[in-house]
Order: sequence, then structure tokens, then C-alpha cells
Amino acid sequence: MRKSILLLLLPLLLPALRGAAQRGKTFFPAGDLITTGIYYYPEHWDEKLWERDIRHIADMGFEFVHLAEFAWFRMEPEEGRFNFAWLDKVVKLCEKYRLKVIMCTPSATTPVWMRTRYPETFIMNSQYIRGEHGTRGQGCIVNTKYQQFVERVVTEMATRYGRRHSVIGWQLDNEPDAKPDFSPASQAAFRQWLQEKYKSVDSLNAAWGTAFWSQWYSSFEQITIPNVQLVGWWGTNPHALLDFKRYAADAQAAFLDFQAKTLRKFIAKEQFITTNYTAVSPGADPRRTRLLDLATYTAYPNGGSSNIGESGFRLGNPKLLLFAGEYFKDPGGVTGVMEIQPGPVNWGSFNPLLFPGTVRMWLYHSFATGGRLACSYRYRQINYSAEQYHGAVMQTDGVTLSQGGEDYKEFMGEIKKLRQQADTSAAVPAALVNRSTAILWNLENFWTLDYQQQTRQWDTWNYPVKFMQIGKSLGAPVEVLSEKADWSKYKFLIVPAYEMADSALVSKWEAYARNGGQLVITCRTAAKNRNGHLWEAGWAAPLRKLIGADITSFDMLPDYYKGDVLMKQQHYHWNNWGDLLRPAANTAVLAQYDNQFYKGTPAVIKRQLGKGAVTYIGVDTDDARLEKDILRDIYTSAGATTEDYPPGIFVYWRDGMYIAVNYSSEDYTMNMSDRARILIGEKRIKPAGVLVWKE
Ligand code: GAL
Repeated sequence: MRKSILLLLLPLLLPALRGAAQRGKTFFPAGDLITTGIYYYPEHWDEKLWERDIRHIADMGFEFVHLAEFAWFRMEPEEGRFNFAWLDKVVKLCEKYRLKVIMCTPSATTPVWMRTRYPETFIMNSQYIRGEHGTRGQGCIVNTKYQQFVERVVTEMATRYGRRHSVIGWQLDNEPDAKPDFSPASQAAFRQWLQEKYKSVDSLNAAWGTAFWSQWYSSFEQITIPNVQLVGWWGTNPHALLDFKRYAADAQAAFLDFQAKTLRKFIAKEQFITTNYTAVSPGADPRRTRLLDLATYTAYPNGGSSNIGESGFRLGNPKLLLFAGEYFKDPGGVTGVMEIQPGPVNWGSFNPLLFPGTVRMWLYHSFATGGRLACSYRYRQINYSAEQYHGAVMQTDGVTLSQGGEDYKEFMGEIKKLRQQADTSAAVPAALVNRSTAILWNLENFWTLDYQQQTRQWDTWNYPVKFMQIGKSLGAPVEVLSEKADWSKYKFLIVPAYEMADSALVSKWEAYARNGGQLVITCRTAAKNRNGHLWEAGWAAPLRKLIGADITSFDMLPDYYKGDVLMKQQHYHWNNWGDLLRPAANTAVLAQYDNQFYKGTPAVIKRQLGKGAVTYIGVDTDDARLEKDILRDIYTSAGATTEDYPPGIFVYWRDGMYIAVNYSSEDYTMNMSDRARILIGEKRIKPAGVLVWKE
């Protein structure tokens, strides 16, 4: 009897049991695969055009419209006087054309009355100059006056649109980035954060190592935000800087949670709450929020950089969607792209036309990573303003589709067909399960490493991405996990340059390997404790037992100089970073340095541990050939098969379908089984091409 009551209750209990990590999924029906929408700014256009535009949006196949993002001036033209009549009209038009709405809170741009009457609501830069009216992202998020204004406008919006069926979700702010803010409010909030963390100023002095250069404090009141511009980039206290980054990310997350909490008081539970982090988000940390249902990201892959091959400058940088599509699955379990570049931008080093089909390929890439929504910045190219040169789905006449617009249309039409073909309950193919790989990463390590790169060749953001690229080129599904996650369902765990660690984390790594995991740790891992101090012991001392070696020292070379590493009679080049290893007796040497005065010293080692193994890669190469060969061997010796996709070819599996995209400048012919059935594209994938098939 009791058992059956429990069973009855289980569906009700499940969401709570699943917890925050999975709640994003519940907002997106699996059968929809992905839902696609567009940014529309009615406040930029004559009201007479609204219906025409909304109708076009629906006719093109979009399913939702993204509204009100920067429109605070229109909603609250004067302090405390609200006007939503215009937005009501637009929402009604969306409903008329069966379009859903993502409503945005407008905190990224404030109306002019706020700056004139309440200058303290604006941030200060590192020269202690207040932000001016006229741009965005200037709000001082820890200023109570600013918070009151935000709370009021969010409440007004929530009570109006929080129960409207057409509104599927909310985006908070725009591209939150935890900007350094040197205003008095921020200084005070930082001090308070420190006080809560350290309790006594003596513990802060110890953690920050303030004995150095007479930095010592006798009270919290004396502390100011570490200012790299005034103190000098190299001279700033790295521990203070690390805490400031932590504080700023916490403050950003708290500001988002504060908005989410305000919304949740009024909105229907079916409406999701998210925000749109930039794909490369070096300040704001999605994992620090508590009340968002999911995180989304914005992606502008083409800002005139060279990328892969001759046409790479038109095809964009694949690393953006590659990493963001996985990383932002924390905290909601799912993610999506809230902005995708629709054509040339206005801020690249140069802004070329995109290769036809590129926007469609990016959309497929984001879809392939599991994306549940895709949205584009923006519907119409604006004829005036700072972004008048920025491409859009519709050209400047407002009625002619751009190439990006054509790409969107094609994508949306194809997704509707794929909805009939997909199998949302299909099991992940065994070959992929056998290669399942996770990368352990967090922003804190990015902060410490990036501040002390030690060689200008160290590419902090792209270092973990490089391992993702290698894993993908070997055909593995590769995800990004946090320390808290359950790693046990992944056969391979890569820990790239995870600089700050403690004994609990090292024990968790050890247990992972002992229980059968293939653990791969790379250079610069565990060199510091959580305060960013080196150990009063050998280099990366906590790793010693786990990897079965001492790291006796490390080297780096000029960029024009090639260090030589030898592995299985093959030579590889390096010049960025090289750990010199002294392995214990039962540790195998996989590769060793083959020139320099330390020729013969091990660079890569491996040891068996319990049911699994630990490999340590102490050297960082530019072309990643060495790392790829090592990883291939690790997969193979653990019984997993591998592929060998060239750079720019990325292959995914979701909902019973394989999806491949081609960012390279060459055609690529996919190796498929005889049973394969092509759903989209051709076996020979052209640059910017897409192939979708079922096996
Ligand atoms: C994004 C931003 C958009 C728009 C776009 C231009 O970072 O969120 O509002 O400015 O850049 O490329």
C-alpha cells in the first residue's frame, strides 16, 4: 500500500529530486527538437510597420519573437510612469500570427532620467570615472537605488506578461559580464563580501599574502578593489584580484537571481527564466546562479579572424559553438543560443560577407550540441545608430532577406521535417557511449592562469577547448563538467590545466580512476591551492602520488624555437610549456624530450590505478598532434574505437540522428555505413555544409 502511494507521488517528487541540474529540460518538448526565434525591436520602427514585420517573421517560419530587451525608455519614459500600451500591441500581434514571445528585462540599458537624477546607479571605471548615459551595461548592480528601479520595472512587466500563454520565457538583462566596477557602492560590497568570507582581517592578510610589498591591512575598511590599471598589471596582488573576480561573478549572479526571484513571484511556472551569456564569458559565471532555469549564450563566430583554411575568414571560428554548446548546459541541464550572428557584424577587425550557408551551419552546430532554442540578433538591419553596419535577417529596406535570412529560413524548414524523422527516445549508440568524454573546467582556473600566463603563448581560454577539439576529431561526444558533477558515467575525464585544487578534489580524481575511469591530467594542474598559493612542497605536490611522478621543473621556449618530444619513434614540436617529470618505478613513460639540456626527461607518463588509469601530459604543443596521438591511444587501449575527422569537421549525435558540419575550406566525404539514410545534405559535405543522417 505504502509502496503504491510512493509510486503515485513519484512523478510529483521527481522534479524536486532532479534538482536544478535538469530543470531546463521541462520547458522544451522533446519532440520540438529546437525552437527558433528572432530579436525584434518594435521601438526602433514606425508602429505602422509592426504588423507587416511580425507577419513576415511568422511567414519565414520563426516560432517566437524576442522583445523589450533594451526598451526601458519606452516602458518607463519618466520615473515611475509606465507605458506598456505599445508592448501590449506587439504581443497581441505576435499572438495573432501564432508566435510565442521571449520577454526580456531591460536592465542592460537605462532611461536618461536615471543617469541625470541618480548618477550613483552607474558604474565607475578603473580611473574612477562614472559611466555616462548613451550606451549599455553601465548599471551598478550592487547599488540599492538601481536595484529598486530594476525590481519595479521587472515587477510591472511580470504582472503584465507573467500569465500570458504566448510568453514562454524570460531573458534577464543582456550578456551579463561581471564588469569591474570601482564605484563606492561596489567598493563597499566587495569589502562586505571579504568580511563574510574571511571573518578576520588576519585571515585575509594570510590568504592574500599581504606581507609582500607592505600590502598588509589592519581593518577591512582599508581595502579597495585591486586596480590593475593604477597599480600596474604585473604588480597587482594576484590573490586580491582572484577574490575580486569571485566577488564580481557572485554579485552578477546575485543580481540575476534577484531579478529571477522578483519574476517568479508573479509569472506562471511554465515560463522559463534565463539569461544570455557571451559564448566566451570570462567574467560572469553561469554556475553561480541559483534561480535561473537554464543558461543560454550568444555566438558571433565571425569577426574577421582567419580560422580554418582559405575561406575560414568567411566561415567563422568553430570553437565558439563547440565549447559554449556544452559549457552552458550548467546550470539547467540544457542550453541554446540566444543570439547568433546573422551576417557580417560591425565590430570585427574586418567584416567580410559570410560564405553562403554559414549561418545555417552555425544553427545546425548549435542544434547538434543539443541546443533547445536558437534565436538571432536581429530581424531588421537598423538604418541608424551604433549598429547600422551590423547585418540582420532583413536588409535595410525591411523587406528583402539577407543571405543570413535565407539560411534561417532553410534551417527552420528543415527542422520541421526533422521533427518527423527524429527519435527522441533512441539510445545513444554504443560506440559513442564507449568514447564518452568530459572536460573538467571552471572559471576560477581561467582567472588565475590568465593573470599569470608565464608565457605569452599560453592561450588560457582555448587550452581546454583544444582538448574538446581533439576529442571531437576522434569522434567522441565531449561535455564540460564542474567539480560537483557526477563524472562516473563518462569513460574519459580530461583535466586540462586545472591550476587550483585541494585534497578533496585530488581524492575525487583518484576515486574516478580507481573505479575504472581513464583520467587525463595536463600541465599546470594543482600547482596552487584555492587561495592561489603555491604549495610549500614540491611543484603540484598533491598530484605526486596520483600521477606517479614528481614535476621537478617546467620550461618554455621562444615562439620561433621548436622543442622536440619523442614518442614511439615519432618527433613532435612544442614551445609553450613543458613539465620535466621524474616518474616513480611503476609509472610508464609515454613520451620524452628529445633536445635541450634535459634530453631524455619524461614529458608524458601513465600509470594504472585500480580499474582505471591516469595519464599526465606535461607538455603543451601548438598543433596538438602529440596530444591527439596520446588521446587516441588512451581511447584505443580502453577498448573504444575512434574516428579521424580533419580540422573543422564536427560530428554529433542527438535524438537518433547524426549531424555533421564543415567549417573547413575543403569538401569532406563522410564515411557512412551501408545502412545510413541521409535526411539532409549529401555524403560529400561542402564548406559551410551540413549532413544529417540516420544509421
Ligand atoms: C551582442 C549584443 C547585441 C548586439 C551584438 C552585435 O554582443 O548582445 O545586443 O550588440 O552583440 O554584434
